[in-house]
Amino acid sequence: MSTHSEKNKILLGVTGSIAAYKAAELARRYMKRGYQVKAVFSEGAEQFIAPLTFQAITGNPVLSSWDQEHTQGIGHIEYADWADLVVIAPATADILAKYAAGMADNPLLAVLLATQARILVAPAMNVNMFHHPATVTNLQILRERGVRFVEPGEGPLACGWRGRGRMAEPWDIFYHTLRAFGDDSLQRKRVLVVTGPTREAIDAVRFLSNRSSGKMGVALAREAFRRGAEVEVIAGPVRTKLPSGVKLSSVTSAEEMRQAVLARTFPQHGEPPDIVIMAAAVSDVRPKSVVKEKLKKGDLPKALPLERNPDILAELGEMREKAGTSTKLVGFAVESGEIEDLIAAVQQKLSEKKVDMIVGNLAEDSLELDTNRVWMVDKHGRETEVATSFKSRIAEKILQHVRKL
Ligand code: CTP
Repeated sequence: MSTHSEKNKILLGVTGSIAAYKAAELARRYMKRGYQVKAVFSEGAEQFIAPLTFQAITGNPVLSSWDQEHTQGIGHIEYADWADLVVIAPATADILAKYAAGMADNPLLAVLLATQARILVAPAMNVNMFHHPATVTNLQILRERGVRFVEPGEGPLACGWRGRGRMAEPWDIFYHTLRAFGDDSLQRKRVLVVTGPTREAIDAVRFLSNRSSGKMGVALAREAFRRGAEVEVIAGPVRTKLPSGVKLSSVTSAEEMRQAVLARTFPQHGEPPDIVIMAAAVSDVRPKSVVKEKLKKGDLPKALPLERNPDILAELGEMREKAGTSTKLVGFAVESGEIEDLIAAVQQKLSEKKVDMIVGNLAEDSLELDTNRVWMVDKHGRETEVATSFKSRIAEKILQHVRKL
């Protein structure tokens, strides 16, 4: 078996469900990421998809029957020992019942009994089967044994019913796989990420906003999730593709964002999060008054009276000081000038807003892009530059630094 640092072998268990075709897409994603993949089928799987599909995608023979042990010399123990992670996707009610009962009447079940690897399961079944007390109990038994789950989604099911039971999408299972392989460095930590722009209404259809895409915040939330954290995101109006299990609250205006942040950070009761990252581009101003209807162009004012929005991060800094909690506060700073000006602004915001770290970036390097270049300055005076890279990589670096605060 492999050591921790080189863990990259995924054994993909496929069972007899209409969602089996999605497992092929998942295998392709794993291969693209550089994982080694082998597939093992339950008896019913072949009625939905051919082993050859997985053989072609993974470049490895598929274990799909006991016969192969004799004819091709593929052993279930060998597969069980080879794996760093076993992912069952899709997992039917039948396989989960047999797995919970410790049965081993097909090669996949035998692998599951024999392996020492972590197990990740993506259930797929009819909504009533999913909510049946027998299935609920089986899932509970498996959870208590350390099996991890990617919750099925809600919606129309292949059987004609609507409800929970549809297998999670391959990209979602992929993020849960990264978490299962992750370093667990933020396990049991609660992380709140605030991201995206805010919109400040002028009338029923017009608003003031900015170019923030929320991508940096989404990358930070995914990275915190990968590291095992319990993650919550508060996002302004942007598209957010977050793994299931990450809680999302959508807000529109700065005041709504403030209310949502305050309700989750320093409430009267309950523990505040361990880490709060304000990656949002909060609008600094809002129109003094909002017109409920749409203004006709002839009625639009020549000048728009504005008023300041509250500074959410500064308020958090104050509240933390008063509460004396150990919550780590991280802010961002965006400037459009020279790097020297950015560093100066970062240092100023660090002390003015009473936070632990400010991540500075230039507007032209970051806004709406998939990449970024940042300068991190922390309260201990440490300065770290991260050269242009994908926001996922920048997020890794930021969270590595946050751990040192
Ligand atoms: N921020 C906030 N509430 C605001 C404005 C900003 O919480 N009303 C947070 C941002 O999320 C970011 C940090 O404060 O983490 C710095 O934001 P930035 O817009 O760069 O700076 P400002 O404080 O608005 O100052 P200025 O626009 O003058 O540079």
